[in-house]
Amino acid sequence: MGSLTVRNLSEDVKKRLRLRAAANGRSMEEEIRVLLAEGAAEAPVAAKAASAAKGDKAPATAAAASQILLIISGGIAAYKSLDLIRRLRERHYAVRVVMTKAAQEFVTPMAVGALSGEKPFTDLFDQHSEFDVGHIRLARDNDLVVVAPATADLMAKMANGHADDLATAALLATNSKILLAPAMNPAMWTNKATQRNLKTLLADGVVTVGPNKGEMAESGEAGTGRMAEPLEIVAAVEKLLGGGTGEKPLSGKHIVITAGPTHEPIDPVRYIANRSSGKQGYAIARAAAELGANVTLVSGPVTLGDVPGVKMVRVESARDMLKATEAALPADVAIFAAAVADWRTANEGEQKMKKDGSGQPPKLALVENPDILATVSKLKSKRPALVVGFAAETEKVIEHAKAKLKRKGCDWIVANDVSAEGGAMGGDDNAVHLISATGMEAKVESWPTQSKDGVARQLVARIATELNGKTT
Ligand code: C5P
Repeated sequence: MGSLTVRNLSEDVKKRLRLRAAANGRSMEEEIRVLLAEGAAEAPVAAKAASAAKGDKAPATAAAASQILLIISGGIAAYKSLDLIRRLRERHYAVRVVMTKAAQEFVTPMAVGALSGEKPFTDLFDQHSEFDVGHIRLARDNDLVVVAPATADLMAKMANGHADDLATAALLATNSKILLAPAMNPAMWTNKATQRNLKTLLADGVVTVGPNKGEMAESGEAGTGRMAEPLEIVAAVEKLLGGGTGEKPLSGKHIVITAGPTHEPIDPVRYIANRSSGKQGYAIARAAAELGANVTLVSGPVTLGDVPGVKMVRVESARDMLKATEAALPADVAIFAAAVADWRTANEGEQKMKKDGSGQPPKLALVENPDILATVSKLKSKRPALVVGFAAETEKVIEHAKAKLKRKGCDWIVANDVSAEGGAMGGDDNAVHLISATGMEAKVESWPTQSKDGVARQLVARIATELNGKTT
């Protein structure tokens, strides 16, 4: 078997790969694997990706695919940088990391590499990293440099133009804006030398986020010096890279999502239910809100908390779910991830049913529930431009999903294999196929196995592409 070395690809190809990987929330290596699999299967997605990469009509999420150089210096707050990497990648930023020697005492390059999708750079004189990109390119090939945590020592070196390791050399060589998230002991922060260095750095155009006031990681210490929380740093990054408009791929779009099970009452204390957790629908709501959508989440009874920034409508039965979904329209997109009960009892008892002593159990007559997906798909007015259903199948997944697409009248079906071999049921990973109707033909995209959050992000990114310019 031959092997492929990414650094030997042309700069242009590497850039396109980076954009595509960031738009899909994958590492470059994962993206290459997907591309090869798609190419081998001659899946139509490949053509779409190629045209998007050519810049014919870039996917909307590629707009957000800025490259960030994250420098982690040696402080206890370095553990929070791991979460920062995750949060940045969730938002489709490509993250390349430089770690100082001291940073590696707090977090391992392996953990950083696993989260960023790329081996971190650690050494100015490392032949391999110099050969890979070189410290000058490392400094230049990015849209923003973030230093988190920025220690007192690193700030002092920056203020005085030192360049005795890879981090300081990159900071001195970069033309990009620099965002610092200082983190240190409160006495070190208030020390005149640090404040003098901070003044110099601010005058040089460096931007800071934090430090915050509060308990320090060292026991018994409190004051100003805590590193800003990862989400505060992300907000500062977005402000700096937002290009002034703050426009996100799904800004101004209304998306209605159903999630969870429904409970169908038998009497005031009993009900028919199923085991749906609601996790996939909630993940989609979160991912859609992150891309700027105005989201209404119509949720059946689950134990999950509200999704921040999302309008929550909590319901019990299928009929209530239908009513709430219709009341939430108009919408640009509707996604039906709920596991709606197919049947309800014909006559809900007003009082708790009692055993009558005869030993005969009561007979429960069932009637079919309204099909919310089919109802909304067939609306004459207020039908969302894109209606997406889900299909959990145990066999002939694609064949059955294609039939369901026709029967329900929706535009896309996300189908997954819930047979024991498929492994989706109860597991964290999911392999799905996106079936879309194009004219008379149904088109199938098979996505790689990934986490349910990954499926949510890929689905929402795909929706943004569809709404913002049909690239297929
Ligand atoms: O028919 P089936 O339950 O397999 O269809 C699954 C799809 O239809 C899912 O998107 C589900 O949310 C939706 N559905 C619905 N109302 C129903 C039954 C299913 O919206 N009563």
